[in-house]
Amino acid sequence: MAGEELTALERRVRELESELGAARRAITALTEKLAEGDGRPAVTVPAATVDQPAAPGETESELRRRNAELDRLNRSKSEFISIAAHEFRTPMTSIVGYLDLISQGRLGPIPDPMQRPVASLMRNTQRLKRLIDDMLDVSRLDSGRMVLHRDARDLRELARSAIGELEAFTLAKQHEVETEFAEVPLVDVDGDKIHQVITNLLANAIKYTPEGGRILVSVGCDGEWAVLKVRDNGIGIPEGARGKIFEPFSEITAPQFHSSAGPDSAGLGLYIARGIVLLHGGAIAVDSREAQYTEFTVRLPLLPGARTHGGTTAAA
Ligand SMILES: Nc1ncnc2c1ncn2[C@@H]1O[C@H](COP(=O)(O)OP(=O)(O)OP(=O)(O)O)[C@@H](O)[C@H]1O
Ligand SMILES: [Mg+2]
Repeated sequence: MAGEELTALERRVRELESELGAARRAITALTEKLAEGDGRPAVTVPAATVDQPAAPGETESELRRRNAELDRLNRSKSEFISIAAHEFRTPMTSIVGYLDLISQGRLGPIPDPMQRPVASLMRNTQRLKRLIDDMLDVSRLDSGRMVLHRDARDLRELARSAIGELEAFTLAKQHEVETEFAEVPLVDVDGDKIHQVITNLLANAIKYTPEGGRILVSVGCDGEWAVLKVRDNGIGIPEGARGKIFEPFSEITAPQFHSSAGPDSAGLGLYIARGIVLLHGGAIAVDSREAQYTEFTVRLPLLPGARTHGGTTAAA
């Protein structure tokens, strides 16, 4: 490659790196603000209003006012997430586009000293993109704009595909991944979104289970429900924290208990998973014991006529 082109490419990569750094800092600051409940552009509600429980003597009108304020605060927060995610998406599209061209060698071969920086740019860009996609999902769920494209799908296929996609991570941590798949009729779901739910649960199982652990993914039926379980023998979730894990921006586990949550852990995965499952008319629950196991159970309604008795299919 000519020297001039190389210099231009180096300059462009430095620009991208700095754009990426700025975007990352902005997202971190934003995530922290939102986590503190401070991400409101227009509404000012004293912190005490949010933190204080209702006092016993509070009148009905005071309670109504407080409720309305919290409602408004929540809407502003959703609006802010939505605006921020959309604003981040445009520059991210350009960054991803250029990085793809560079890493595929379409702008010329990548010189040796730039192999590592380019690989790092790719990894971090994927993280940022995932965070932005998650923020967009949160805003779609909060505003009721998430649309399902339903289709008759085999839950076992969706589970297999999610397991395959995350294989690199399970191999890296030497996890033993087992499956237990019973005969299950097709479910009428948005395949991409349920795949996303399973991926989220599986990614958590990998993240919160130390090396050499065991992960079990099972699919079966229970009456009117198709049932998917993801169980791990990892760090578990403290009893007092279990009620909070489905809230957005929840990062419950103290960092000293796990090393892998890392900066890309926004605490949005379960909030989105729950939103998607509820939108399907299903349910999601967790059972866990600290330092022993965590098991998430997802129930999705079977198509009428595909009910089952005692785990076996009665009619398809
Ligand atoms: N399998 C699990 N074992 C132990 N703790 C878990 C497990 N799954 C979830 N948690 C706890 O629930 C919290 C919320 O999970 P969630 O998936 O919403 O967020 P996250 O994994 O921290 O971040 P993100 O999914 O946005 O990358 C986690 O931070 C962790 O403390
Ligand atoms: Mg997660």
